[in-house]
Amino acid sequence: MSFDRSIKIAPSILSADFADFGREIRAIEAQGADWVHVDVMDGHFVPNLTFGPPAVKAFRPHVKTFMDVHLMIAPVDPYIDAYAEAGADMITAHVEAGPHIHRTLQAIRATGKKAGVSLNPGTPAESIEYLLDLVDLVLVMSVNPGFGGQKFIPSAVDKVRKIRAMIGDRPIHIQVDGGVDPTTVGPLVEAGADCLVAGSAVFRGGSVDKPEVYGANIRAIREAAARALQAA
Ligand code: DX5
Ligand code: ZN
Repeated sequence: MSFDRSIKIAPSILSADFADFGREIRAIEAQGADWVHVDVMDGHFVPNLTFGPPAVKAFRPHVKTFMDVHLMIAPVDPYIDAYAEAGADMITAHVEAGPHIHRTLQAIRATGKKAGVSLNPGTPAESIEYLLDLVDLVLVMSVNPGFGGQKFIPSAVDKVRKIRAMIGDRPIHIQVDGGVDPTTVGPLVEAGADCLVAGSAVFRGGSVDKPEVYGANIRAIREAAARALQAA
């Protein structure tokens, strides 16, 4: 993957039909998804449970674009190799998941996969200052992680702006996740976010039998982002 700051839409399959992931992944990619975002939850770091490595391995053959695996788990280190072997292209870990996020990011890099670091809404931008040489992506959570369909937390915009300034010309993506839709995306991209995770706003109203709705939803987010960048 060559680095660029063009806008990427990463639908979260947390909002897909859990009985039909293969077709759901193929449908969102055919409808314009740039990445596929996989939300891994452990019922401990966050109050919900989702996908172990065997599930991610089952998704892999269906993903033709880029599989971005967001680990909301603690501890992280014992599972990094398993998610790498399952076929993640990028593995993102939370700065709050343990005392040794630096070691965790080194371990992700050692697998040969891209590495991301994520911050919960209450965690300051400065917490990742000394991690930037170890990451390909910073994920700013714009909801408290655990569930899809939550209300966007506006302070994420200011945090994105601060992190964009910290990054300078380093090849690091800024991703936002939670409550991203055509009404919230503008200030985020103006502040410097280039990778937009969206669950409800992509899957809402569609299905594998009505995939054109996914396409229209993805386009609506992309167009709102483009309008905001043009106006800026
Ligand atoms: C939250 C997850 C998100 C979530 C986003 O814990 O990390 O990826 O699925 O869902 P929406 O877009 O519905 O807020
Ligand atoms: Zn996520």
